[in-house]
Parts: sequence; C-alpha cells; structure tokens
Amino acid sequence: MSKSSCYVSGERAQFRLDTARLVLRPLREEDARWVWELDQDPELMRHISFGVPTPWREFEDRLLPRMLTSHAAGPQYGFWAARLRGDPGTAVGWFHLRPERIPPGDMELGYRLRRDSWGRGLATEGARALVAAALGDWELPLVVANTLQANHASRRVMEKCGLRWERDFVYPESLLPGTSEVQRRAVRYRIVKGDPIP
Ligand SMILES: CC(C)(COP(=O)(O)OP(=O)(O)OC[C@H]1O[C@@H](n2cnc3c(N)ncnc32)[C@H](O)[C@@H]1OP(=O)(O)O)[C@@H](O)C(=O)NCCC(=O)NCCS
Repeated sequence: MSKSSCYVSGERAQFRLDTARLVLRPLREEDARWVWELDQDPELMRHISFGVPTPWREFEDRLLPRMLTSHAAGPQYGFWAARLRGDPGTAVGWFHLRPERIPPGDMELGYRLRRDSWGRGLATEGARALVAAALGDWELPLVVANTLQANHASRRVMEKCGLRWERDFVYPESLLPGTSEVQRRAVRYRIVKGDPIP
C-alpha cells in the first residue's frame, strides 16, 4: 500500500484530509442516516456493543449531537466522514480524533468502517493520516486509542499506525451497561511525538 499523503486546509467546514485512496471531511448533520446504519450491523458492532444495534432515538438524541460537537479542542478535531477518492457516493465510514471520554482525556483515535470495505487497509490509511497530522501540523504531544481486548482488527490497525500497547484497563460499566468486567477488559495504545509512523 502506498504511504498516505495528507493535507488539511481551511476552517472546519472546509477541512479536508486526503490520503492515497480516501478523502476525509468533518462529519455533518446530513450524514446522520449512514452513520446510524453502520451501527445496525451486528458484526460491525461485535466489539463495540456486543452486537447490539444502536436505537435511532438514542443515536439522534445522544450520540449524534456528541459526534457533531466533539471538536471543542480545535476545528481539526472531532469526527470525520471518509469516502473513496473519485466516488462521491456513500461514505465508507468515519474516523475520529477527540478527547477520551474516560480519564486522562488525551486525544483519542477511533474508526468505524462499513463491512464491505474491511480488509483493504482503508482503516490504517485514514488513521495513519490523522496520526501524522496530529503529531505533525497539529502539534499534539501524543495520540491514544482504546479498544476491547478482543478487538484484534482494531489493535492491528493501531499497531500499523505506529501506536504501541500502553496498558490494560476495564471500561466502566456506565459505558457498557449490563456487561461483565471480563467483557469490558480493554487496552490502551499510544504514540508520542517522535515515534515512527510506519
Ligand atoms: C477495525 C476496522 C476499522 C478495521 O478496518 P479495515 O479497513 O479492515 O482495517 P485494515 O485493513 O486497515 O487493517 C486490518 C488489520 O487487522 C487484521 N485483522 C482483521 N481481523 C482480524 C482478526 N480477527 N484477528 C487479527 N487480525 C485481524 C487484518 O489482517 C489487517 O492486518 P494486516 O494488514 O497486518 O493483515 C473495521 O474492522 C471496523 O470498522 N470494525 C468495526 C468497528 C470497530 O471495531 N472499530 C474499532 C473500535 S475501537
């Protein structure tokens, strides 16, 4: 796979981050439908909600507003819609770089892609571009990523972006209600400025 090249320009609404195959732009309210539809795939949600789809009401009332306002730390942060270059059609998914919801609240990388786009290196490509911009032009000291221990695909993406295991932890039950402590076992990875991005 060719290395991601990326640039960012303009104020938030005009921000754009290009990679070899993807175009990322800030998530907008009109993206609501496809973003919610991602969460209706039980396989995609396996390591997020143990396969439970997100109810529309919860998405519309709680999740979407949070996604659309998670750039308080700066216009370059928050959620990004990703589509294939040259294909103005349906987005392949989203990425985020936003403050962690659990302490210590460092800037956290995340991603969720449509199942028919898995296995092509697209998550790695988009995530690498965000990590490179974050530690480069955006001058962040570090980027972290969290996932359930069992989410090996996500862990692999982190590794391929240069993040390294930092520690194991358990998500609070408030984030995953009705789950056992074993189910909530998670890992935190991180990359600091100066570490190599593969
Ligand atoms: C995680 C996710 C974004 C990966 O997307 P993707 O575009 O397929 O990722 P990539 O192709 O860039 O890389 C995936 C890597 O994981 C590996 N992988 C996939 N499934 C795996 C598994 N079950 N066990 C171990 N490795 C696995 C792939 O082989 C690949 O590594 P490789 O290039 O060394 O072969 C995608 O599966 C997804 O959207 N999952 C649901 C949402 C999610 O879990 N998000 C993360 C929450 S923290």
